[in-house]
Amino acid sequence: MAVPHPNPKLTTEWKKNNSSSLMLKKKSILEKESGKKLLATYSYWRCYTKYAVLPKHKDRESCEISATVHINSNGPSWPIFINGNEVNLKKGDCVIYLGGKLAHWRDEFKGDHQFQAFLHYVDADGKNKDYYMDKRNFWGQPRTRT
Ligand SMILES: [Fe+2]
Repeated sequence: MAVPHPNPKLTTEWKKNNSSSLMLKKKSILEKESGKKLLATYSYWRCYTKYAVLPKHKDRESCEISATVHINSNGPSWPIFINGNEVNLKKGDCVIYLGGKLAHWRDEFKGDHQFQAFLHYVDADGKNKDYYMDKRNFWGQPRTRT
């Protein structure tokens, strides 16, 4: 089911249910790169459309260690800026970042569409470990626990 995002310029599609397997499958890579044992929290994919803008922001606790994966695009390279550093991803690339600590954003998108998957984790030994599964009872379900 498509869920409208509160910022209509940001996206046309926002889906969670079919990205959990990617998040779980890629966890070991993020553990290797981060040097930490991780717990998966939640994931989703998004289709950005022309003129989309990702405002500068930091993420919530469930996004302590995150990856944004470039799935596909028909437009020019659309960099993400993380803590002021420009990162250009090609199809199949991802960037791993500390979403809760480092401000990140994208300027206006000039292509027609770009698909990104977002994979989020927390440090299994850290202060956010209780956000495992984003406090849900089942993968792919909305948050149910507080
Ligand atoms: Fe974010």
